[in-house]
Order: sequence, then C-alpha cells, then structure tokens
Amino acid sequence: RPIEVREPALRPSAPSLDLTVRPRRNRKTEWARRLVRENVLTTDDLIWPMFVIDGDNKRAPINSMPGVERLSIDQVVRAAERAAKLDIPCIALFPYTEPSLRDEEGTEATNADNLVCRTVRAIKKEFPELGVLCDVALDPFTSHGHDGLIQDGRILNDETVAVLVKQSLVQAEAGCDVIAPSDMMDGRIGAIREALDAAGFLDVQIMAYAAKYASAFYGPFRDAIGSAKALTGDKRTYQMDPANTDEAIREVELDLAEGADMVMVKPGMPYLDIVRRVKETFAVPTFAYQVSGEYAMIAAAANNGWLDGDRAMLESLLAFKRAGADGVLTYFAPQAAEKLKKLT
Ligand code: PBG
Repeated sequence: RPIEVREPALRPSAPSLDLTVRPRRNRKTEWARRLVRENVLTTDDLIWPMFVIDGDNKRAPINSMPGVERLSIDQVVRAAERAAKLDIPCIALFPYTEPSLRDEEGTEATNADNLVCRTVRAIKKEFPELGVLCDVALDPFTSHGHDGLIQDGRILNDETVAVLVKQSLVQAEAGCDVIAPSDMMDGRIGAIREALDAAGFLDVQIMAYAAKYASAFYGPFRDAIGSAKALTGDKRTYQMDPANTDEAIREVELDLAEGADMVMVKPGMPYLDIVRRVKETFAVPTFAYQVSGEYAMIAAAANNGWLDGDRAMLESLLAFKRAGADGVLTYFAPQAAEKLKKLT
C-alpha cells in the first residue's frame, strides 16, 4: 500500500519573514525546552543559614525576615532533621548572643561552650552526615557590633586575626565541618589554616567569604543577630567597596593562596558579575550568599501579592547557577528544596 500523505488539518499561514533561523523552535514544547536547558538548580546547590538563640523550645520571629525564625538548639536540631530529609547538603549557623554576654573584645566568640559550639555538638550527635558550616567573625559577640577589635575607633587587623584563629579552633573542636570567615581581615585564612592543621584538623574545610562587600543588604541579618542597634559607624574599612571588581579578584587570589578550599561572593543577586568573573578566573568551588536583604525583598513582595513568591525564589536561585556558582547560601533553602522535590 502506498503511504498516505495527508495535509495537516491546520495549515500555518505563509511566512511573511524570510527567516532561516527561528530560535523559538527550540522553545515550542516542554520536552524541547528541557532538552536544550543549560543550567539546573538542584537541592545539592543549597546551604541553609539558621539563627540560634538560647533557651528551650523557643522560636522567635525576625520582623525584617518574614518566614525566618531564630531557633533554640532543640529547634535547630529539628530543622537539621528537616534539612537531612530534604537532602540539603549543609546548614550554616549564626548565633544571637545575649546582650549580657557581649563585650568590647567579643570574648564569648572563643568560649568552647558558647551557643554555636553547643549547637554544633547537638546537631552532629543526631545527624553526623549533615554538613555544618560556622561563620567566623566577632560581630555577634561584640558590644559595638563590629567584626573585629577596636582601638581608638580603628578596627585592628592582626590582633583580630589572633582571636578569629581561637574562634575557629573552638568551632572545629565542637565538630564543625566548614569554617567560614566572614570578617574580611587581611591574612586570616592563612592564619586559620595553619592553626587548624597544627591542631590536627586537617580535614576541616575553609569557605572564605573572599569577596564580601560593605552592603546595605545585610540590614535584616543584623536585626536577627541583634547587632543592628549596637553597630557604630559602618564596615567600609574592612568590607569591600561595591564599586570594585578587580579588587574581588585580588581578594579571592589571596584567600586561595592562603588555603581556602572554597570561596564565596556576598551579597548575591546584585553581584552576579563578580560570581561569573571569579568562577572564570579561578575555576574553584565558588559560592554566593543570597543575603538577608535579598530574601526580605522577595518575601515581602510575595507576601503583598506583588510577586509569585515561589517562581521568583526559584528564578533567583537558578540565576546563581547561570552565573557560575556551585552553590548558594539562602534562607529559601527549605522552601526551594520542597519545591524541587515536587518538580522531580
Ligand atoms: C558577619 C556576617 C554578616 C552576614 C553574614 N556574616 C553581616 C555583616 O557583615 O554585617 C550577612 C548575612 C546576611 O545579610 O544574610 N560578619
């Protein structure tokens, strides 16, 4: 039997443009869009930052971060369980330190039994397989809200690094997997690496907040850890000028030379150009921090019905992948992981 050639029922109108290339062909169907898709966001890309408070069975909202709460240790352990169930690889811990425990020198930072260290031990006991990252900086512990020691209104570099080294050691001792210095002092990565190695913590990784900018987008975070009201002045003598790009390359280069295993760019969305440049220049594990202010913008707009919150969240996270990031620290981590689970 001859093959029957049938005319299509609906004949498209004759093309009026003489186009050989029509990019829309590859977008016409879901299967084709999936086939040509260049980047994917997966749960493997997420690090979930959490705020810890003292007490028992306590959850305290943060006004400027709708949907995010400060959690007492038992609640953090429950959140860690949720992270493990959702397959989120790593969580990051930030303490809210009681005002009575804050002082000029940030002494509580080096207390081996401080809130962060106790939290790490509690998590590791229940979920040893879950990655735990600890921030290293003095701002949750100082009465003035700065990341370092102050003398005559100046932030001291080398003296601060000596304290950060001690802070890193107590965190490593508690069982922290990734030490993440966010202070932006010069030479801290090398000093911390040397001290960790000397103490036998050869396997403790360092994720350097390598290119961290003096940003207005950290506002809600400072509310969360209670340093906003305390902070005198700004952090522009140690955090980077938002106008600079080459300087980020220099900072990343130094941190890698000093022994950083992974580097981070912070904030995230307004700095995707930096993520791209760092990844292309160094080809090392590169992370970005979608910071508190970025979270707040999307969450607030979504809560007002001005944005489709879930779509904006996933789009913003995918943008980090497109820019070359290997992963993102984001307060959206649990919601994003839930969504991604449903999609696959
Ligand atoms: C502390 C630190 C900050 C953030 C992470 N670690 C605040 C700051 O540098 O003032 C910001 C995170 C966020 O805004 O989500 N050095």
